[in-house]
Amino acid sequence: MKRFVKVLLQNPGAASLALFTREIWANPRAMGAACPSTPSLASRMASWVPLDQEGLVVELGGGTGAVTTALLKHGVPPWKLVVVERSPTLVNHLRQRFPQLRVIQGDAAHLTQLLGHDHAQGIGSIVSSLPLRSLHPATTRAISHQFEMLIKSGGLLIQFTYNLRGTRDRLLPCFRRVSSKIVWGNLPPARVEVFERE
Ligand SMILES: C[S@@+](CC[C@H](N)C(=O)[O-])C[C@H]1O[C@@H](n2cnc3c(N)ncnc32)[C@H](O)[C@@H]1O
Repeated sequence: MKRFVKVLLQNPGAASLALFTREIWANPRAMGAACPSTPSLASRMASWVPLDQEGLVVELGGGTGAVTTALLKHGVPPWKLVVVERSPTLVNHLRQRFPQLRVIQGDAAHLTQLLGHDHAQGIGSIVSSLPLRSLHPATTRAISHQFEMLIKSGGLLIQFTYNLRGTRDRLLPCFRRVSSKIVWGNLPPARVEVFERE
């Protein structure tokens, strides 16, 4: 056991995978995925974040940090990035892995409250890995209401889904879909959708 823990600590990739797997056992509906996003999916999502945009970049469902890593690599400044994650265990992991970032523990259905004064700066983009299909429908509705309230006209919502047919239009009535492409290199393949607030 000691040797196993030592190997995990020396190998952040393996540690992330082990943690992700444990969280799936604990809460499969909230995790909504069999494994962390691959770098190809994460970098596709991050590439949509405009770097010249005012306001915060909010990542929802940080997990073990696959998309967070891609957002930083893409050039999002750490002071502009806020990560929200529901699981306290994953929040601890994210805080250790990214001490330079603000990581908030809580449910994205209460995003306005979680961001507190921060949302007064405005939100440029939201990058979401939330499993909207597998969450309770009331939670999904509350989250989509938060998107409508917090993203200003012209702002972007970048969301991925394992539903290769894409997100239902009626879930985001105030948004216009500007891109929807499958990333075949993810395991399993996933669709990255980009919505602009009207
Ligand atoms: C599909 S995993 C994605 C993890 C990571 N971003 C990735 O791409 O590998 C979904 C993440 O959303 C988190 N989550 C689920 N429901 C949430 C909610 N209501 N509010 C905040 N985070 C939530 C889960 O704990 C999990 O870490």
